[in-house]
Amino acid sequence: MSFLRLYLRAVSLVGPDRGLALGLAFAGVVLALLGFAEPILFGRVVDALTHDRPAMGLVGLWAGLGFLGIAAGIFVSLHADRLAHRRRLEVMKSFFEHVVQLPASFHSEEQSGRLIAVMLRGTDHLFTLLLSVFREHLTAMVMLVVLVPVSLWMNARMGLLLIGLMVVYGTLSALVVRKTRFGQERAEAYHSQLSGRVVDVIGNVSVVQSFTRLQEEARALQGIMGNLIAAQFPVLNWWALASVLTRAAATVTIVSLFALGTSLHAKGEITVGEIVSFVGFAGLLIGRLDQLTQFLSTLVFEAAGMRQFFQVLDKTSTLIEKPGAPPLKVTAGRVVFDRVSFLYPNSTSGIFDVSFVAEPGETVAIVGPTGSGKSTALALLQRVRDPDAGAITVDGQDLRDVTLDSVRRSIGVVFQDAGLFDRSIAENLRIGKPDATDEEIRRAARLAEADRFIEAKQGGWDARAGERGRGLSGGER
Ligand SMILES: Nc1ncnc2c1ncn2[C@@H]1O[C@H](COP(=O)(O)OP(=O)(O)O)[C@@H](O)[C@H]1O
Ligand SMILES: [Mg+2]
Repeated sequence: MSFLRLYLRAVSLVGPDRGLALGLAFAGVVLALLGFAEPILFGRVVDALTHDRPAMGLVGLWAGLGFLGIAAGIFVSLHADRLAHRRRLEVMKSFFEHVVQLPASFHSEEQSGRLIAVMLRGTDHLFTLLLSVFREHLTAMVMLVVLVPVSLWMNARMGLLLIGLMVVYGTLSALVVRKTRFGQERAEAYHSQLSGRVVDVIGNVSVVQSFTRLQEEARALQGIMGNLIAAQFPVLNWWALASVLTRAAATVTIVSLFALGTSLHAKGEITVGEIVSFVGFAGLLIGRLDQLTQFLSTLVFEAAGMRQFFQVLDKTSTLIEKPGAPPLKVTAGRVVFDRVSFLYPNSTSGIFDVSFVAEPGETVAIVGPTGSGKSTALALLQRVRDPDAGAITVDGQDLRDVTLDSVRRSIGVVFQDAGLFDRSIAENLRIGKPDATDEEIRRAARLAEADRFIEAKQGGWDARAGERGRGLSGGER
């Protein structure tokens, strides 16, 4: 995704706040034009004073425009922040919902730490981007566009100096962007590797502690950090160089404006007020160009993170529901595996040519050595994945022809790992049936012979299970 596409995509996320965004854009344009009026008025006042003409009218106009500028400024700073905050949370919500509904095939290849990092970094980047779009970019761009004709019209030679400065900034920025974008992408990859690793280690903290692996883990982390720094530093060097060179160009431009202005003034081709206006323009221009280059460097730093974010957001489920698919209707409950084969992507493991029938009311056990494909077969029955060949039917309906939701609802699963949430025991028991009554919960626990230890536990049904059930014993889980 190119920078421009990335930028436009990020801006398009304002979506429901479009009205406010337009208001902010308008205020930004007003601010730009007001910013322009100021040096012109300043120059006019200076000329009026040096020629003993009345200047009060100009000063009054200046003050009026100043107040208008303050009002627009307050509107922008207040609402740009609110908009950016709102959008960040909205986008985070869509990301969360999207990731949670992605199929097991996606999650088995992703680290949850990396996903969390991609979400947090991505939404942070979007936040800063939206904020600077509405606070700075519009104003800066309108100013640059207006500055060229106005300064040329006021004095062509002085105007050319300012345009020259714009060209220097543009060229330097373009060069540095080219030099740094790949380095920054590598740095970003190390960032997410770092988060993936940290979450993996913290999630297995008891293993790390009992095998006293702290030092090894810290060393491995330091290795990734070393790579990160090695990728990041050259990028920083280039941007530091750009900043020094643009600053130098800015100083040279101001000095040249004065030098050229002095010689033109000697020939009577420019007034003192016009020189003052040009120096004011130069100040404006430099401020805005600095802002835009600053933003460009931020975009380079953050683009990789935003790309990762959009990549996850664009991941589509490989489990496609047929349009207008009906729900699964279980009448008898006859399950048929008909020559089912499935291979995990990029691997040679899976199941091959499996056929069996589970008649209604029958208890069927699938028995086999570890890794023979029992869990895989059941994952296919739940349609966590689709078979590469063959078909699975329930009461004659192919699982691929009915809605995903209805398949999952029709099948009860007891996992090898309990899959407990860090919530109360009662809440965990209600995961499969959110509207279960207290009595139903108690009965289920009694049947599983879990009621006694739950009630004996401090907090009882309200006791928290801990992350992944760590507050319970292996058997209790
Ligand atoms: N997400 C995965 N990606 C690649 N290979 C996998 C994945 N899950 C399981 N496998 C492999 O598929 C085979 C069958 O696994 P599984 O169905 O879990 O066996 P089990 O019979 O012990 O339940 C094993 O060789 C396992 O290593
Ligand atoms: Mg298994």
